[in-house]
Amino acid sequence: MPAAVPQTITEAAKATLAPLSKFRGRHYLTDQDYAREELLELLQLAVKLKALWRDKGLTPFLPGRTLAMIFEHPSTRTRVSFEAGMTELGGHAQYLRPGEIHLPGRESIKDTSIVLSRLTDAIMARTAYHSSLVELAEWATVPVVNGLTDDYDHPIQSLTDALTIWETAGSFERLKLAFLGKVSDAMASSVALTCSRLGIDVVMAGPADHQMAPEMKQLVRANGEQSGATLTLTDDPVEAVAGADFIYTVLWWWLEEGEEREALRRTYRPFQVNEELWAQAKPGARFMDCLPAVRGEEATDEIMDGPMSLCFDQSENRKHLQKAVLLALIGSDRLPHDPDLQEIGRALLA
Ligand code: CP
Repeated sequence: MPAAVPQTITEAAKATLAPLSKFRGRHYLTDQDYAREELLELLQLAVKLKALWRDKGLTPFLPGRTLAMIFEHPSTRTRVSFEAGMTELGGHAQYLRPGEIHLPGRESIKDTSIVLSRLTDAIMARTAYHSSLVELAEWATVPVVNGLTDDYDHPIQSLTDALTIWETAGSFERLKLAFLGKVSDAMASSVALTCSRLGIDVVMAGPADHQMAPEMKQLVRANGEQSGATLTLTDDPVEAVAGADFIYTVLWWWLEEGEEREALRRTYRPFQVNEELWAQAKPGARFMDCLPAVRGEEATDEIMDGPMSLCFDQSENRKHLQKAVLLALIGSDRLPHDPDLQEIGRALLA
């Protein structure tokens, strides 16, 4: 009988990895495509890779392999963490921005996908529309990884956040996460989907007329039926943070200007994470923000730079989690010579 998937991070660090070849060749478009146990297996691999990174730095499981990175929109964390992660795995990542390739507009998504599949070993894409990512994946013969679709989700960030929560709390049992502010955002959807899949209770606190989309609520509730997680919607930030172990927020505005920006600031201002709100939070609660932030808007500096903040751990963990996802999806055909790499190498072959 196969060993049970570790539920705590301590068990995960010690336990032998389950076979990983079942991940090979799959896409990572949303974590809804992965069973809870599979997400835990990817998280366990990330824990092992992070420990190896601390001991050795480089873990060349993917020599000569290339990741194509398509960015329709700018990025700091996603670009740098995928690129640094591929370097540490012994491979290479190519940054492809609009104007440097023929997407969008001058070549079809289909042809781009077929060509990149012939030339590289995986594709990561950040697109405006989730439908573009799905079309890319439809034609790709190599794994496609979601690096944020503006109109749907950001699962590689929210699975990274799960790693950060696991490191902080030790397990996913009896945890509550409150998401404050822009609960209609792709990041809010992703956090709710990932947490509910893993069994973390979710509270979404936003203005009454800017709540989570009905279809997203349905998915989160369906996840909860499997994992036991609950979903609560509220327009009261104080009610939301009461008893929460993790308090998460994201940008209210980014490129908007003038009255449009001012309207967003007025809408979300009651949900700002500041010291006054924090005084209502559970002792020991931790603050999360996937960044980038507009300092002094969705959260004040006292919170973002305070001892409760996990936001820079979240950024660093992007690299460790993404190395796990890339390694599992790209796979390997050979056992590394380095004995320190052989546990993971064996799991990749099994
Ligand atoms: N959190 C995140 O995806 O950051 P970037 O936009 O900098 O990639």
